[in-house]
Amino acid sequence: QQIKFHLQDKEYTVNVEEVTPNTSLNTYIRKTLQLTGTKGVCHEGGCGACIVVLYSKDVNTDKDIYLAVNSCLIPLLSCNGWRIYTIEGIGDPVKGYHVIQQTLANFNGTQCGVCSPGMVMNMYALYESGKLTMKEVENAFGGNICRCTGYRPILSAFKSLCT
Ligand code: FES
Repeated sequence: QQIKFHLQDKEYTVNVEEVTPNTSLNTYIRKTLQLTGTKGVCHEGGCGACIVVLYSKDVNTDKDIYLAVNSCLIPLLSCNGWRIYTIEGIGDPVKGYHVIQQTLANFNGTQCGVCSPGMVMNMYALYESGKLTMKEVENAFGGNICRCTGYRPILSAFKSLCT
């Protein structure tokens, strides 16, 4: 038995016997696929360092849906049919950075960098959903912890993109 999902624009097939029911999406992304941009820190849904974005379409309205999720809480075997984006999929030094990545760097909000991918992906979901407003940013921001405690430049960066 197999599951299939898309990560960025590539389809992956996983034989169910290759993983355990406890294998998280975070473990698979980092350890098996070696995509280490997505971090794993608390592994219990508390820090947001592992946030990735799920994409789907609303079947009734045909509207795009972008959802930020904690990949450490998602069993890999539940990802059948999903389309997932990680920090590597939205921008890099070769193809160019996404405006959210670039703005965070411009505001010196990257600091030690461990929380940055999760922060960026959380904001990316809002950005792509057309919901990058001050209120939504502040609400979503509650799901990300920065151990350097330098929240001000991070928040300033994201708020500068708000409509
Ligand atoms: Fe902390 Fe997933 S690793 S929320």
